Amino acid sequence: MTPTTAHPDIVATRDVSTLISADRVELHGQKVGPITHLSEERARLAALTWQNFDVKRVGATIGAEIHGVDLTKDLPQPVIDEIRQALLAYKVIFFRDQPMTSTQHVSFARRFGELEIHPFIPSNTGQPELVRFEKSFDVKGFENMWHFDVTWRAVPSMGAVLHAVKVPDSGGDTLFADMYAAYEGLSPATRDYIDPLDTEHDFVKSFGRGVLPEQMPAMREKYPLVVHPLVARHPETGRKHLYANPVFTNRVLGVSEDESERLLTELWRESSNVEYQCRFKWENDSVAFWDNRACQHYASSDYWPEIRIMERASIVGSRPTR
Ligand SMILES: [Fe+2]
Repeated sequence: MTPTTAHPDIVATRDVSTLISADRVELHGQKVGPITHLSEERARLAALTWQNFDVKRVGATIGAEIHGVDLTKDLPQPVIDEIRQALLAYKVIFFRDQPMTSTQHVSFARRFGELEIHPFIPSNTGQPELVRFEKSFDVKGFENMWHFDVTWRAVPSMGAVLHAVKVPDSGGDTLFADMYAAYEGLSPATRDYIDPLDTEHDFVKSFGRGVLPEQMPAMREKYPLVVHPLVARHPETGRKHLYANPVFTNRVLGVSEDESERLLTELWRESSNVEYQCRFKWENDSVAFWDNRACQHYASSDYWPEIRIMERASIVGSRPTR
């Protein structure tokens, strides 16, 4: 029998896996195996019942389609209250076939609080509180990075209502990731380490590109660097969630630059686990309403040069605390 000859590039067999728990293995730096801490929240959500609409859940612990509500109407307060409870439970809720006018969109969002006016994105809708994202051959999508909206504000949004005016026939999905699950997926030692830490947030890396140099001092004065807890406590649910994002978070304070980078990279890797996510496929007149504390989002930029037009109303939140 002739012995097989090893490939010349194979000099030794190296074990690239490490057993990290009874049922999880780290393979090439990626953790493989079931993420069992999701089961409790998943079961809690499965047991919820609703009076004013039907719900079809999307992800394990995040996302639900709400059926049986017409957002173009002036909804009774009990329905609004129950939509808010659904938002808090599922972190992001979706509605189909809602041909809202700009006025109806603003009216619906305003039922949940005062609305923001975005200083960097022109409205172009006739409603100052409604931001229009109009992508095309010339205007490309740059929202394909995980983020919470406007954490460069001292008081970031509590949530946003996004209406699809015109979407491509494929692509342009938005992904949402559960930041309670990401926090709870960290080891107890890591959670203890990061709980007291603060981070610095800034608009410059992203929206700064659209600000003229002569306008920058005034914008910086109006929107200075802000400090938020790395782990925040949700003001309505009382649960802890990760609150750093790669778009607006510059660094972790009180640690070296290298440690800040190492830590943020580790947290963003944990945050981007597919098991913590849901993915929404838009149709014209779909609506997504996300809790901007409990989840991050990512707009897939895979549809160029197609047209994708979205309108967003953002609801003012509260100062994040731990
Ligand atoms: Fe966003």
